[in-house]
Amino acid sequence: MFDRRRTGHVTLRQLEIFEAVARAESVSRAAETLHLTQPAVSLQLKTLAEAVGHRLTEPVGRRIRLTQAGRDLADACRELAAVWSRFEARLDDVAALRRGRLRVSVVTTAKYFLPKALGRFVQLHPGIEVELEIQNRDGVLERLRERLDDIYVMSAPPQDAAIEAESFLPNPLVVYAPRGFAAPPNATLQDLAKERFLLREPGSGTRMAVDEHLARLRVALPNRMTVGSNEAIKQGVAGGLGLAILSRHAFSEADLPEIRILDVKGFPIEREWHIVHWRDQKLPAAADAFRRYLLEHAAELRGATETSPAARPRRRSPRG
Ligand code: PGA
Repeated sequence: MFDRRRTGHVTLRQLEIFEAVARAESVSRAAETLHLTQPAVSLQLKTLAEAVGHRLTEPVGRRIRLTQAGRDLADACRELAAVWSRFEARLDDVAALRRGRLRVSVVTTAKYFLPKALGRFVQLHPGIEVELEIQNRDGVLERLRERLDDIYVMSAPPQDAAIEAESFLPNPLVVYAPRGFAAPPNATLQDLAKERFLLREPGSGTRMAVDEHLARLRVALPNRMTVGSNEAIKQGVAGGLGLAILSRHAFSEADLPEIRILDVKGFPIEREWHIVHWRDQKLPAAADAFRRYLLEHAAELRGATETSPAARPRRRSPRG
C-alpha cells in the first residue's frame, strides 16, 4: 500500500511528533507538549527526514520553519489524522451496532408496517435492543419535545428548523365503506356528507389531516362519531356503522370481504411518512442505521402495504 522507498520505517509516533513541531514551530515547545526531551524530539525528526529523503525543517533564529516538503508532510499528517479518526468512529459504530439500543416512537397508524420493518432490521443486527412506543400524533410530539426517543415516525412533522424530517414512504388517506355500500358514480365528499363518518380522535395525525382536508373542500360532516383507534373504526365500517377516512396502510387483504375503498373525488389525501429527529442530537449508531434502513427499504415497505387491485380506488384525483 505504501511506497517503502519513501516511507521506510516511518512510524505514526514520528508523524505525531513532527505534527507537534510543525504546529509549535519550535522543537523545545513541542517536546514540552509531548513530555519528551528536546534531543529525543530532534532525533525522531532527523530519522523521519532521512526516511522521506527531504529536509523537513530549517532553523530561523531560535525557532524553526518548515521547508516545502515539511509543509506538505504537515498537510499529509492532518489528512491521515482525519482518516484515522473516521476509522475509529466506524469501529465504535460497529461495536454499537453489536450491542446498541434503539428507541423509536411512532404514531398508531405506522403500526401497519413499522414493527415489521423493525423485525427485519433486528434480524440484521440481533444485538440491538429495541424500545418501541406507539401513540397518536400528540403523544409522539410530546415524547419528541421531551427527547425521550432517538427517532420518531409520523406523517406531519412539526414545522421547526431544529427538527430534521425525512420523508420515506407515501401515506395516502382513502375513504373506507362497508363492502355493499352503493356510492354514486364520480362521488364527491359532499355527495357522501349525509352519511355517518367514523373519525379518529382529536390529537391523531389522521384526524388532523381529515379536518384540514374538509376545511379545504369546505365540506362539513355533521353526522360524525369519534372512535379512538383505526382497528375499531374498521370494525365499525365492516359492521355498517358508517364510512371512514383512514390511511390505506390500515387496509389488508383480510378486510376485503367486508370493506371496500371508495373512489371519491379529491382522494386520496396525499401524505408522506417521515423519520424525525432533533438536528442537534447526534443519532446513536443503532438509530442512524435504522434510519438508513427505512430510507433504503422504502420500496419494499411500499410493496408490503400495497393492497389488491379490488381494494384500490380506480383513479387518483388531484388534491382538491
Ligand atoms: P395517527 O397519525 O396514527 O396519530 O392518526 C397518523 C399520521 O401521522 O399519519
